[in-house]
Amino acid sequence: MTNTCVVGLQWGDEGKGKIIDILAKDYDVIVRYQGGGNAGHTLIIDEEKFIFHLIPSGILHQDKKCVIGNGIVFDPCLFLDEVAGLSERNINVNGNLFVSDRAHVVFPYHKKLDLLIEKQKGNSMIGTTGRGIGPCYTDKIARDGIRVAELLHKEHFKEKLKKTVEEKNRLFVDLYKDEPVSWEEIYEEYCVYAEKISPFVCDTVDLMAKAIEDNKKILFEGAQGALLDVDFGTYPYTTSSNASAGGVSPGIGVSPKQIHEIIGITKAYATRVGSGPFPTEIDGEQGEHIRKKGGEFGSTTGRPRRCGWFDAVAIRHSVRISGVDSLIMTKMDVLDDQETIRICTGYKSNKKVYHNFPADLDVLENCEPVYEEVSGWMEDTSKVRDVKSLPGKAMDYIRKVEEIIGLKVKMVSVGPERLQIISI
Ligand code: GDP
Ligand code: IMO
Ligand code: MG
Repeated sequence: MTNTCVVGLQWGDEGKGKIIDILAKDYDVIVRYQGGGNAGHTLIIDEEKFIFHLIPSGILHQDKKCVIGNGIVFDPCLFLDEVAGLSERNINVNGNLFVSDRAHVVFPYHKKLDLLIEKQKGNSMIGTTGRGIGPCYTDKIARDGIRVAELLHKEHFKEKLKKTVEEKNRLFVDLYKDEPVSWEEIYEEYCVYAEKISPFVCDTVDLMAKAIEDNKKILFEGAQGALLDVDFGTYPYTTSSNASAGGVSPGIGVSPKQIHEIIGITKAYATRVGSGPFPTEIDGEQGEHIRKKGGEFGSTTGRPRRCGWFDAVAIRHSVRISGVDSLIMTKMDVLDDQETIRICTGYKSNKKVYHNFPADLDVLENCEPVYEEVSGWMEDTSKVRDVKSLPGKAMDYIRKVEEIIGLKVKMVSVGPERLQIISI
């Protein structure tokens, strides 16, 4: 019995959703353990598109259990929308989808705060998804949050919400000179949600303990990526949770001993959406070309993603933090028409070359990347389904990445569809 964790090694959107959907057939339980509605995980099956923000990407396998852990910041409105979307497509979630009673609830005042804080930051704005993620995690850590279990207790919820909204309104009115929000309106809206989500809510600590006792195979689905991790990413241009494998235990309540394998997902190049340093970013026409070819527009916000070259300094950092065992490389097909492909192996700054990912944003922002160049394969890989049919130069690129990172690439993805995958 092997439990596996899948994490993004870059700034999110590595194709985790697609990979989870592919791997899920070999597991019994699929778990989201951190992040929230900021995530957008895309699956394309026979040209039909699904984007999941909160529901684990294993949900299309109807015989599996999907669990939303306590580490998630849970937006009940978004969740119910996703459930309704699935039911419209005749995908049943009753009895196989579970929400932790310990997850923190996202409220409209979190979203409002998210936007006001960003506005106040001006030029140094993070470029958040506006889904209330930071403010909800802030309340959790400040011990001011409201959890799913409390939401289901009408009287208790009413008192706590009223008090919390009073505090938030002081911020809105006095500090931000903005409109207050009405606790009564939120209360009414959220009582309706409470009723609708209650069949999904349970003690997921118990659920997971029983799954482990029964030798069920568990797949942990990371959201975002290590470079957006609040501790190890490009802080403060990060999200507010631990997006590396270390987030699993606090985010679902299983021991680290229960994670047996860690797979890191990376694109064949790099992208980032939102602000913050991106040493290998490609400006101008070439970056624009990759963005168009790769359909690099946010799954959650639709914003154009910034594109850049594969950054081995950053990936090695991400691999170390999570203890990654092997890699899966996605979006190989997007590089099909690049004559020369670059891999960054160091950052040059102030006469020094960095091989470890620096904490200092000044270095990250102003460094000159040191590149190795490999020649592109200039062939269509999107129809390739077995490793022997991959162009020799594409294989050379994969081997080069393996050598520089020191890990095997076990799968390569050559298109968004479920079947566009090659085992190596
Ligand atoms: P996630 O957040 O890590 O699940 O990734 P997203 O779903 O936000 O972004 C990945 C995007 O790339 C989605 O639009 C996928 O459909 C698409 N995608 C995934 N793998 C591949 C691939 O190998 N090639 C191409 N061209 N697109 C891919
Ligand atoms: P998935 O799971 C890409 C980015 C935002 C912003 C920063 C903080 O689909 O890979 P937040 O709303 O979390 O406070 O925003 O993090 N971000 C993501 N970028 N993919 C994601 O998730 C992201 N989730 C957050 O763009 O820069
Ligand atoms: Mg995404």
